[in-house]
Amino acid sequence: MNRLDDFPPHAQTNRAHWNRHAEDWRQIGRCGWRRRQPAWGNWEIPNTELPLLPDDLSGLDAIDLGCGAGQVCFWMHQRGARSVVGIDPSERQLEIARALAVEYRVELELIHGVAEAVPRPDATFDFALSEYGASVWADPLIWIPEAWRLLRPGGRLSFIGRSTLSLVCAPPDDGPIGTTLQRDWFGLQRVALGPQEDPYVVFNLPISEWFALFRRIGFVVDDFYEVRAPASATGQRFETPADWARRFPSEQAWRLSKPQGSCQGPPSTAIVDNPTKDAYSI
Ligand SMILES: C[S@@+](CC[C@H](N)C(=O)[O-])C[C@H]1O[C@@H](n2cnc3c(N)ncnc32)[C@H](O)[C@@H]1O
Repeated sequence: MNRLDDFPPHAQTNRAHWNRHAEDWRQIGRCGWRRRQPAWGNWEIPNTELPLLPDDLSGLDAIDLGCGAGQVCFWMHQRGARSVVGIDPSERQLEIARALAVEYRVELELIHGVAEAVPRPDATFDFALSEYGASVWADPLIWIPEAWRLLRPGGRLSFIGRSTLSLVCAPPDDGPIGTTLQRDWFGLQRVALGPQEDPYVVFNLPISEWFALFRRIGFVVDDFYEVRAPASATGQRFETPADWARRFPSEQAWRLSKPQGSCQGPPSTAIVDNPTKDAYSI
């Protein structure tokens, strides 16, 4: 999929949001490309403490779902991946990723599209990752089954994004998160945020529903992390004050695997109760 009209409605909104903000993220992306060791999320937790990316990807095909400026693709390449694909609906973000790939002389395949419908055949990849890409901006009831479809048996999926609790506490106007619950935990899935002139849509699920989704699809949960800001963190990272993130998990991360011998077919039962599914086809 790369025709804009084929993007689901929330992805049209989020594409416009990310095209507006891509330039603000150029420097963050550039810093990521300069890093020798990956670090994750708002608090830049080193991969040695939060091991989302295996040290050795040699001989494996890898994809970054919501690649932005492409630094995770670069880290995959550095770790020996045989091929690296990044997908993102924001053409401005992809322009930055392309420029950095040229600068670093790295061959990446960058696709303009959404993680909910990746235009690649079943069982194309051994490893998939998302840092604040699909993991926040795409509908999990669609993109998680899609990641399963894309992975070969034995493949792995890691992702990190904001925590369910942080989204429940997020004020609608983009202000800092506090200790007041702003919306219900039960029923949480799709949340429209941002000011009128810059709206965006993010997704999350109650923790038990994440587990239920993985179980329905067939993913094994290898690890689940509630990320705590380090003692050295100060100030505010985007919407999250550091002192909040020392008291509560502001981010959550998962490591999943698709068992050897899994059926390859799309796990259609996983998406039957998806309320946004009717709005578009995949
Ligand atoms: C905060 S940036 C993260 C970029 C990168 N993963 C990183 O670690 O810096 C979020 C990215 O998710 C992308 N995105 C938004 N909706 C998406 C979707 N449905 N599928 C895949 N990526 C999406 C945005 O265009 C944006 O580039």
